[in-house]
Amino acid sequence: MSSLLLRKWTSQCYPEVFKALIFSCLSLSEILGRIRPIHSTLSHGDFLLPPPPSPSPSPSPSLQTLTHLPSMASHHHHHPQEDPEPNGATINNNHHHIPKKPKLTPFISDSEICSEFAHHDLGTARINNGSFGCCPGSIIAAQRDWQLQYLKQPDHFYFNCLRTGILRSRTIIKDLINAEHVDEVSLVDNATTAAAIILQQIGWAFAEGRFQKGDAVVMLHYAYGAVKKSIEAYVSRAGGYVIEVQLPFPLSSNDEIVNEFRKALERGKRNGRRVRLAVIDHITSMPCVVIPVKELVKICREEAVDQVFVDAAHAIGCTDVDMKEIGADFYTSNLHKWFFCPPSVAFLYCRKLASTHSDLHHPVVSHEYGNGLAIESGWIGTRDYSAQLVVPSVMEFIDRFEGGIEGIKKRNHDAVVEMGEMLVNAWGTNLGCPPDMCASMIMVGLPGCLGISSDLDCLKLRTHLRESFRVEVPIYYRAPKDGEEIGSVSGYARISHQVYNTVDDYYRFRDAINQLVHDGFTCALLP
Ligand SMILES: Cc1ncc(COP(=O)(O)O)c(C=O)c1O
Repeated sequence: MSSLLLRKWTSQCYPEVFKALIFSCLSLSEILGRIRPIHSTLSHGDFLLPPPPSPSPSPSPSLQTLTHLPSMASHHHHHPQEDPEPNGATINNNHHHIPKKPKLTPFISDSEICSEFAHHDLGTARINNGSFGCCPGSIIAAQRDWQLQYLKQPDHFYFNCLRTGILRSRTIIKDLINAEHVDEVSLVDNATTAAAIILQQIGWAFAEGRFQKGDAVVMLHYAYGAVKKSIEAYVSRAGGYVIEVQLPFPLSSNDEIVNEFRKALERGKRNGRRVRLAVIDHITSMPCVVIPVKELVKICREEAVDQVFVDAAHAIGCTDVDMKEIGADFYTSNLHKWFFCPPSVAFLYCRKLASTHSDLHHPVVSHEYGNGLAIESGWIGTRDYSAQLVVPSVMEFIDRFEGGIEGIKKRNHDAVVEMGEMLVNAWGTNLGCPPDMCASMIMVGLPGCLGISSDLDCLKLRTHLRESFRVEVPIYYRAPKDGEEIGSVSGYARISHQVYNTVDDYYRFRDAINQLVHDGFTCALLP
């Protein structure tokens, strides 16, 4: 059915849906996506018409036809609203408020999950979702739909579809993260870009004399390497003083983090220095641990830190993300890591009340410069914006799982802890932190006899596991402390759990390490 015919049919049969659609420019699969949920709110006897055809990418149309309404980020205080478009048009979001009925069909089955991830290299135990995330087949298909729509008539797409599509995605994210206003939410390529946006503004403040040379920026020692480089480029170079919060590892409680953070702020404020920015990870990358961001933001406020930026690259889909609770000025999370979007898309939240809100700019300057970060970010030149447009389809995918994103998060957490404990029991080692300090990733100690004694050893062992055992897992080197026994744990693997993982993935890893230990392998043997 063509899009036009479908719209006509919708207007006659589903006037409410049509009303919601006429303000927007939806893809064929999105229109169908809006209609299917309405069917699901009716009992079988209520059907006046045969159900509409299923969109092509669906692996199991019969199941999907009755799948209930996507939650569209309804967890937080969702009020009916019309979001103003920057150009004065409005988007009607009434589709958020179609009443929900209990789900009539089973949730996504294991075999459907397998078919959604059939493009994965099935011969490899992928227990590293944390690095690059994953994207199900139905979302890849939805992305393709958007790409084709653009290629079909680029001018029409640019003038009539792109802005509304991005606004729709931003609105969903705004509700999901409990932001105050959609203008606080921008879509950018990734957390690296988001960090550049925030740090660039700090660089300007130094350059324009609003900050004094020697004013401080505080970050965690475990901040992501690329973000540290960004701090070097925008802050150190401009004359800022950078303070690292040293954190112990392994960790046993949040207090250890809070105490070290307080100490670092004290150092930052010595000699009358101002702390202009704190960069706090929500989930550190390597080693991974969930940081008590809410407490640390509160401490920053008490200690008069000017601005707080939370680098939460891993957070959405992995741990709780609530802007009003966390209270940071800036917060970014990738959508392509734990939220099933294709690469690459992240949101950047900038609190409206933050004093610098209007001085934030995308580092790639284009026509929209000066129209607010969210609008600037919506056009940074001709390129593929499809990853930003599939967010509504991702919500539909997520809604096929029991409990939606909350259910996914909880099951991933429980499973990764169980698998982590299974591994450390098998190897006689330890976890890197207690289960309540991790989300969907956890650090597991590797046997000391593997002789991991540098970052390079970690990289070589990782490559060996990939090439000889087909296990993909990143490894962290932790230098032994003074007086620590030789042969104690010096390497930790970061294991992830996402919906596509099975217990066999972790057994493969366990057996690979057991084999290496049995064979008397040490890292010194690797070229
Ligand atoms: C804490 C943290 N920050 C930033 C990034 C960068 O993410 P991206 O490469 O998507 O920009 C990562 C990536 O793993 C990360 O773990």
